[in-house]
Amino acid sequence: MLAAIARLLLRLGGWTPVGGVPDIPKAVFVAAPHTSNWDGVWALIYKVAIGLDIKFFAKQSLFWFPLGILLRGLGAVPLDRTRAGSAVDQAVAQFDNNEEFFFGLAPEGTRSFRSHWKSGFYRIAETANVPIVLGFLDYGEKELGLGPIIDVSVGQQAVLEECRRFYANVKGRWPEKFGPIRFPDDEMARKPQRSVRSFVRRSGRLTGSQEKALSELWPGYGIEFEDAPLELDRVFGRRAPRVLEIGFGNGDTLVQQATENPDKDFVGIEVHEPGVGHCLIKARDAGIANLKLIMHDAIEVLGGQIPDASLERVNLYFPDPWPKKRHHKRRIVNPAFLALVARRLQPHGTLHIATDWAGYAEHIDEVLGASELFRCAERRKHDGDRPLDRPRTKFEQRGLKKGHRIVDWRFERID
Ligand SMILES: C[S@@+](CC[C@H](N)C(=O)[O-])C[C@H]1O[C@@H](n2cnc3c(N)ncnc32)[C@H](O)[C@@H]1O
Repeated sequence: MLAAIARLLLRLGGWTPVGGVPDIPKAVFVAAPHTSNWDGVWALIYKVAIGLDIKFFAKQSLFWFPLGILLRGLGAVPLDRTRAGSAVDQAVAQFDNNEEFFFGLAPEGTRSFRSHWKSGFYRIAETANVPIVLGFLDYGEKELGLGPIIDVSVGQQAVLEECRRFYANVKGRWPEKFGPIRFPDDEMARKPQRSVRSFVRRSGRLTGSQEKALSELWPGYGIEFEDAPLELDRVFGRRAPRVLEIGFGNGDTLVQQATENPDKDFVGIEVHEPGVGHCLIKARDAGIANLKLIMHDAIEVLGGQIPDASLERVNLYFPDPWPKKRHHKRRIVNPAFLALVARRLQPHGTLHIATDWAGYAEHIDEVLGASELFRCAERRKHDGDRPLDRPRTKFEQRGLKKGHRIVDWRFERID
């Protein structure tokens, strides 16, 4: 009966409902564009019309008698802001506690123009490991309903891309109020996505001297990973410009740069233990004190341990190229990485990248070309003979032997 009334209301409003209840047990439903107070009304009528049992959060203060009864009947769940845990945690708990659960929200958060979407819908879907269904209200075609179902395991960027593609053809009540589909850079920096890593941990065999270096020299040069910002002035015992190298490999280049620049401090991050062992030996032989090493995933180190605006320069020399298409998602250069690096760089700080893989060079040009955080200050293609302000590295040497050409970039943080 109610469904019939709802269908009639849709017809009277000139709406054509599209799609039906998806045949999946759990999902997060996105409602967009949200540019008018009417959107919520039509969305609720649609939900009743197709018999979609979907829950959504409403402020706890709205649950007074009798409004509370009506809201609950429509699927509203009170959001308890005094309870420990965020709205994301509360939604995830509902997914965990129910065999079947549909949860909906409007990622724009408000009907006014917003320069970004809130990332909650993605974080709920990612944590609860459920798909995302794109709901829409198209005032152009006068259609409303449910569109594609996105598998959240494709990752944040692919989900946003899919949303952009889909909503590009959907017209809100006030199209000028529908903002860009992106997450704020600081949210991406705060919550790096770690489901896909840029490396596969190769245990590698440690030589006797590397093993000895790791036990004897690590206490002097090593910093243990902790999810708390370092006090770099205390770590180095002075205030100086700081350079970070990500994935330093065997560390020859890193030690050479630290030796040639005694007025600067260097932090190297690498996950490959034999490389760290080799670097420790080189650092001891060079007798340098302006170098510290962290043996951990660089994304987590950047996310949790490197303070904001603390670096003058970040070096990323010959990152793993992941040439196979199905592995491209592992490439460390992506918008979330750039957001993290930009945040840790000081104003006008620079990001230096080099690669010998033509396909990765194209990818880097593309990702940085689209970035609002960096501008390309210099780009040079060469045969190992004209690197930008750095010594030759071990992997560069390997690439050159295979006949690869090298591309070097210097990107400057836009302030
Ligand atoms: C191709 S090698 C290049 C090494 C060195 N930069 C060179 O040019 O000789 C890439 C290095 O990055 C390291 N690496 C990849 N992803 C990393 C991550 N997320 N955190 C730390 N190290 C990483 C790998 O262990 C590997 O040693």
